[in-house]
Amino acid sequence: MNIPALSSRGAQIPAIGFGTSQLGDCGEIVATALKLGYRHIDTAWKYGSEKGVGEGIRASGVPRKEIFLCTKVSHEYLRAADFAKSVDESLKNLGVDYVDLLHVHWPSTDNIPLAETMGALARAKREGKTRHIGVANFNIALTEEAMRACPEPLVTLQAEYHPYLDQSKVLAFCRKAGLIFTAYCPLGRGRLFKDPVIAEIARHKGKTIAQVALRWLMQQGNIAAIPRSSNPRHMAESLDVFNFLLTGDEMRRIHALARPDGRIANPKGRAPAWD
Ligand SMILES: NC(=O)c1ccc[n+]([C@@H]2O[C@H](COP(=O)([O-])OP(=O)(O)OC[C@H]3O[C@@H](n4cnc5c(N)ncnc54)[C@H](OP(=O)(O)O)[C@@H]3O)[C@@H](O)[C@H]2O)c1
Repeated sequence: MNIPALSSRGAQIPAIGFGTSQLGDCGEIVATALKLGYRHIDTAWKYGSEKGVGEGIRASGVPRKEIFLCTKVSHEYLRAADFAKSVDESLKNLGVDYVDLLHVHWPSTDNIPLAETMGALARAKREGKTRHIGVANFNIALTEEAMRACPEPLVTLQAEYHPYLDQSKVLAFCRKAGLIFTAYCPLGRGRLFKDPVIAEIARHKGKTIAQVALRWLMQQGNIAAIPRSSNPRHMAESLDVFNFLLTGDEMRRIHALARPDGRIANPKGRAPAWD
């Protein structure tokens, strides 16, 4: 299956990736995802899934260079020395000598200077430990500051996005700043599956709710999405979203589902002031 890719500053990110939070020991699942055609895998030191992701890559038989592999450094390790150690540990867990994308997972809540963390992120790139760099869960102001402070260019902002959350400001910012918006929780972590509006559109199109939700993201442009699944049928469905179109009216009806309490990942004391 040919999955379109999004470009930013030399990075080519497959528009649909595979999420691995909460999957733990996921070697078999990741191997299945790769065999089904996924070529973008999202993990993080914090998820405890890096070892499984590495095992899955090796078991799949898919050459390493065909896979866009992302991981993240957790908020506990944002001091330069801790950051470098965490990157090395992630590479060891994964059993690879580089990743394709390294993120700062959440901004600092301990007043660690952003310039120190961004310097460490850029150093990981310059040392060949990652091909590209990005941030996750930064608000617009923090992302702008990170772009200014970082000696290497950022290619993506990873943040939550699905029909229950209005991210129009963040998406407009990413477009202007030349950053790909990587949408996490693209299926609202399962909350979308009882939605009557999306269900009705899905019935009309002969597609599933997951496919309509992912298509809605793809059709906005400049968005990569990283759904997670441990069910091979669901995995295959989520990749198969490039052969139909939502009408303008269907897009608007899904946009109208955004609600003030739609955000899922909002850890107290760690989340920044969202836009
Ligand atoms: N940067 C961050 O701070 C951050 C935060 C959260 C998430 N993420 C990343 O984003 C990824 C995705 O987010 P998420 O895991 O929270 O939630 P999600 O992908 O929105 O939803 C996952 C849920 O949807 C179900 N599902 C998946 N595909 C389906 C399909 N085609 N049909 C029906 N059900 C389907 C899965 O169940 P089944 O297993 O039964 O299919 C699972 O319960 C994570 O795994 C992680 O890699 C990043």
